[in-house]
Amino acid sequence: MLSFQTLSEQFNKGFDTHHFPSNPATLYEPGEYFLQIGGKRIRPVLCLLGNELFSEIHHDAFQVARAIELFHNFTLVHDDMMDEASLRRGKQTVHTKYDYNTALLVGDVMIIRAYEFLQQIQPSYLPKILYLFNRTAREVCEGQQLDMDYAKMDSVDMDQYIEMITLKTSVLLAASLEAGAIIGGASENNCRQLYEFGKKIGIAFQIQDDYLDAFGDAAIFGKEAGGDIKQNKKTFLLLHALEVANAEQKAALEVLLKTNSEDKVEKVLAIFKACGVDAWAEDLKAKYLQEAFEHLEAIAVVSNRKQPLIELANYLMNRNQ
Ligand code: IPE
Ligand code: IPE
Ligand code: MG
Ligand code: MG
Ligand code: MG
Repeated sequence: MLSFQTLSEQFNKGFDTHHFPSNPATLYEPGEYFLQIGGKRIRPVLCLLGNELFSEIHHDAFQVARAIELFHNFTLVHDDMMDEASLRRGKQTVHTKYDYNTALLVGDVMIIRAYEFLQQIQPSYLPKILYLFNRTAREVCEGQQLDMDYAKMDSVDMDQYIEMITLKTSVLLAASLEAGAIIGGASENNCRQLYEFGKKIGIAFQIQDDYLDAFGDAAIFGKEAGGDIKQNKKTFLLLHALEVANAEQKAALEVLLKTNSEDKVEKVLAIFKACGVDAWAEDLKAKYLQEAFEHLEAIAVVSNRKQPLIELANYLMNRNQ
C-alpha cells in the first residue's frame, strides 16, 4: 500500500505542469498562476486511495484525479469571488490579482479542462464516473447557494448547517473516493460504504475549515483570518454560540451581526471562546470521525489496506492548513 505522502508526490509529478495553452495569456496565465500555488491536493489523492483500496492503481485514476483537482480549483476561484476573499494558499486570489471577469472565466476554463481529462478514461466505466461527477458538481453548486442564502438569514439550525456543508464540501471528498473505487473494480456495496466514509470525513473536514477560519494561524492557513465572521457565515461556531450564550452575549452577537466595524472579528471571537466552541468543535469532529470509521469497517477488504485512509482521516481532523 502506498501512503498519502507517496501518492501525493506521484500525483504532483504529473499535475505540476502547464494545463493551458499560452494564448490568450490574459486568461491562461491567471489559470496557471492559481494552479501552481498548489494546495494540499487531498481530493485527487483520495481518488488514488479509493482505487488502491481494491486493486493496483490504474492510469485512469490519475486522469480522474486531475479532473477532480481542476474542478476543485474552479470552485475555489469562484468561491473567493463569492466570499470576497483576498487571500488563498497564502497568495492573492485570482479576482484580487487580476479582476472579476478574468476569475469568472478562469474558473469556467478549469472545469472544461476537467472534462477533457474525464473523456479520456475507459468507456466501460466512463458513464458511471460522469454520472457521479455531474451529480457532485450540481450538489456543490446547491451547497454554495445555501451558504450564501444562510449568510443573509437570521436563524439557521445545526441540521441546515450540516446539510449545507455536506453539499458544498463533503460530497466532493466522497465522490473522489468512490470514483477511484469504481476504477478499482469495487462492488456496489463497497462503493457505497466508501462514499459514506468520505461524506462523514468531509463534514469533519469542513468543521475544521470553519474552526481554522476563526482560530487558525493565518500565516499557515493561508486565508484571511475571520473571513467567515466578516461575511456573517452561519458556521457551527456561530450557531453554537447563539445557542449557549447568555442574554448579554447573545445581544452583543446580534448587534455585531448587523455591523461591519473594525473590531467585529475580535469581539465575535471573544464571545465564541467564552461559549466554549473549542470543546464543541472537538466533539463534533470526533462524532463524524467515529461514524466515518464505522463505514470504513463495513468495507469488505482486509483491514491493513485501510490503513492509509485511517491515517489521512486523522490528519485531516487536526490539520492547521
Ligand atoms: C478548501 O479546500 C475548500 C473547502 C472545501 C474547505 P482545501 O482546504 O482542500 O483547499 P486546498 O486545495 O488545499 O487549498
Ligand atoms: C468552500 O467553503 C466550499 C467550496 C469551495 C465549494 P469555504 O468558503 O469555507 O472555503 P474556503 O474557506 O474559502 O476555502
Ligand atoms: Mg470561501
Ligand atoms: Mg465559501
Ligand atoms: Mg472556509
